[in-house]
Amino acid sequence: MHSNSAAPPAPGAFVMNRSRRSWIGTSWKMNKTRAEAAAYVAELCDWMRDSELDVSAVIFPPFTALPIASAQLASCRAPGDAPERTRGSLQLGAQNMHWQPRGAQTGEISAEMLLDCDVSVVEIGHYERRENCGETDRSVSMKAASAVAAGLEPVICIGDSPDDRRYGVAAETVSRQAKIALHGLEPEALGSVVLAYEPGWAIGAGGTQAEAADVEAMHRVIRDAVRASHGQEAAEQIRVVCGGSVDAANAPGYARETSIDGLFVGRAALTAAGFIEVIEQYCAALPAADSELVGAEGDTDDRH
Ligand code: PGA
Repeated sequence: MHSNSAAPPAPGAFVMNRSRRSWIGTSWKMNKTRAEAAAYVAELCDWMRDSELDVSAVIFPPFTALPIASAQLASCRAPGDAPERTRGSLQLGAQNMHWQPRGAQTGEISAEMLLDCDVSVVEIGHYERRENCGETDRSVSMKAASAVAAGLEPVICIGDSPDDRRYGVAAETVSRQAKIALHGLEPEALGSVVLAYEPGWAIGAGGTQAEAADVEAMHRVIRDAVRASHGQEAAEQIRVVCGGSVDAANAPGYARETSIDGLFVGRAALTAAGFIEVIEQYCAALPAADSELVGAEGDTDDRH
């Protein structure tokens, strides 16, 4: 739809500056009561108040805990309690939405309902929903378009399955998922879209942690797909993060890769302390300046 007629630069040659702000999110999946959610947010806010880390942090509670999480966040930001040192931000996300604005969709949640709970980010197309809840490339695409139209920032999950890997079609799968998910979006919209690359074989307790270099190579495949569909600038602006068995120990390895813009964390961030540790370890390992990344330009094409 948004074909880019200009001759494309060499794969991987456009992702060398780290101007995209680090993004670290955590989905609580089907965990936490309202009281547990409030305590988590309070602990996280206390830490953010004193933290100087320049990071976009996003929590994705279950729907039932969104209002109390929102109220707790608001009380952290109350006038007179304004954080002075904080450079980072903390946003509230939801784990899913329906693409239609209202209607006979039993059990579903609309963008308007999420906005009503002060949600600003919405997760779409998680691997578990694709596997277990009938989520398809087409429904992900419709949800992404509706989210952007409503003013929500979509975090679109894409990822290869164990079979994709076995048959050597992981790159094709992930490129297809990215292109279909972004199909209805204008290139200018991609600056507020996050693509979360989460291979199905890495997610969950039985998952195998993905090597940072392998994730980096797949992220370059993803940016190539975005460049083909939406152009060079959009491919540079979109944030691509990684997830699947991410924890405080492996976070630094991901931070050192130039095309990885952040993390999407599950189990390791089910406590606020766990989430904070992942953020701190990731940020501590980020290259200090873009100049440190210059040598990496074009050096990884052979890893595709
Ligand atoms: P995990 O979950 O970190 O528990 O593997 C990640 C995810 O599903 O986003």
